[in-house]
Amino acid sequence: MDMALQTLFLFSVLFFASKAVAQLDFCVADLSAPATPAGFPCKNQANLTVDDFVFSSALMTKTNTSNPNKAAAAALFVTQFPALNGLGTSMARFDLDVGGAFPMHAHPGASELLLVTEGTINAGFISSANAVYSKTLEKGDVIIIPRGLLHYAMNPGKSPAVGIVSFSSPTPGLQTTNRALFGNNLPTEVVQATTFIDQDQIKKLKAAFGGTN
Ligand SMILES: *[C@@H]1O[C@H](CO)[C@@H](O)[C@H](O)[C@H]1NC(C)=O
Ligand SMILES: *[C@@H]1O[C@H](CO)[C@@H](O)[C@H](O)[C@H]1NC(C)=O
Repeated sequence: MDMALQTLFLFSVLFFASKAVAQLDFCVADLSAPATPAGFPCKNQANLTVDDFVFSSALMTKTNTSNPNKAAAAALFVTQFPALNGLGTSMARFDLDVGGAFPMHAHPGASELLLVTEGTINAGFISSANAVYSKTLEKGDVIIIPRGLLHYAMNPGKSPAVGIVSFSSPTPGLQTTNRALFGNNLPTEVVQATTFIDQDQIKKLKAAFGGTN
């Protein structure tokens, strides 16, 4: 190619590349359409305003912790905040009363950054080699929970604790070990064969977590 042709070629590549990038800036979810593995379809860009990209005061309100875990969370995922669609991020706030705990759970789709904003939180995760990484965190501390690993959080302090978390996905997903084992219709014989827990105890746990069989 001569110089002029090369230059023309470079400009057309840049032109088409910048056009493609501009079209991918964002894709605010149209929640009336079904979700796909790649997320939701986009709302018509012509109808968007700045308010599609702002979610007011969602994470400043204490959540209702009147439950046996003395723990609750408010999620800001794509279904609450459609602008997150396709952007690989989301947030949540959680509250832990004194003695409260989130049971062992995992987010199959996201790593989680947890910032303690009030009180004291003991948090930890378990690696796929079954090594435990846990620590009592104070206000201002941040822990990263790697994607998909089992983890927990509890409040060992003398005052309520609050955390703000961010996830590396607009749809982090949630799987809780006690509900996976005892909160469904997995037969008691299967739970016993795979955990060695006595059947009587399994039936008690199924009653506590809403399971049958
Ligand atoms: C969205 O924009 C299109 C084209 O500008 C318009 O025809 C349509 O009525 C708008 N829809 C809403 C819900 O505003
Ligand atoms: C908190 O949840 C409990 C149990 O579901 C309910 O009885 C109570 O009314 C709720 N409190 C508020 C302030 O919503």
